[in-house]
Amino acid sequence: MKLFAIALFVCCTLIASSASADTPDGASIVQRGNGHGVAPCMACHAADGGGQAAAGFPRLAGLPQAYLRKQLDDFANGSRTNATMQPVAGGLSEAERDAVAAYYSKLPIPPGAPASASSAASVQLAQTLATRGRWPKGVPACEQCHGPAGIGVGDHFPPLAGQPALYLGNQLHAWQQAARRNDPLQLMQSIASKLNDADIAAISAWYAAQPATLAKEQQP
Ligand code: HEC
Ligand code: HEC
Repeated sequence: MKLFAIALFVCCTLIASSASADTPDGASIVQRGNGHGVAPCMACHAADGGGQAAAGFPRLAGLPQAYLRKQLDDFANGSRTNATMQPVAGGLSEAERDAVAAYYSKLPIPPGAPASASSAASVQLAQTLATRGRWPKGVPACEQCHGPAGIGVGDHFPPLAGQPALYLGNQLHAWQQAARRNDPLQLMQSIASKLNDADIAAISAWYAAQPATLAKEQQP
């Protein structure tokens, strides 16, 4: 009986350790790459997951897990084009994408870079678009989907608050040019097509200056 218990223990320990060896370690991929040609994420997205504002590299820390996972799939399948991220995402297995998405979604949000000052007119324009939209042109208020001050809503409406202005502007231009076509029902393609360059500059600078916090649904 004793022997049986020992055998059972050894057997279970072996199963447990082999399972953990097969599950990719998100932290290790982020810090050291995946060992199969994918560079460490933190080389561009920073050690704390806060991104690099001047280079237009987005914050990943605290973004919803399902959103992060979807973006990696979208880069890999080409519905979101970007010369830097497509080979990165394409070089990760499904399990590795799960692991890095889970890792980043649980990282605390780091303090953002100080935002550059905007003119009063630019702030006014941005606040109007964010809270009221421009209904005569069919532009809904951004906050209807991205939440108050852009903190994000649920799993699929990402936060805009505290993301680099350069990054946000790049995304709106990417939708205008159909380089990003991964949004459900073309919600964002249709909205971006109705914004002009002045709108994009104003709204990107404004959201970059808003404090990033976890959306209600994500709070522990
Ligand atoms: C060489 C630099 C570089 C490396 C390394 C890199 N990224 Fe990125 N990443 C970028 C850039 C640039 C963008 C913005 C692309 C764009 O403008 O569409 C981005 C965007 C993303 C996004 C989209 C975020 C959003 O808000 O939609 C995700 C998710 C992401 N990266 C995950 C990763 C993961 C996970 C790794 C590591 C396995 C990684 N990245 C490694 C440069 C990099
Ligand atoms: C009807 C809902 C809806 C409205 C209104 C909306 N968005 Fe979005 N937005 C989305 C969805 C959904 C996504 C994520 C798409 C995906 O899965 O990649 C998104 C993504 C974005 C992103 C990319 C974020 C990232 O991390 O890559 C930016 C920038 C953005 N929206 C800006 C805006 C702005 C500015 C407005 C207002 C003018 C706006 N959105 C209004 C639904 C909406």
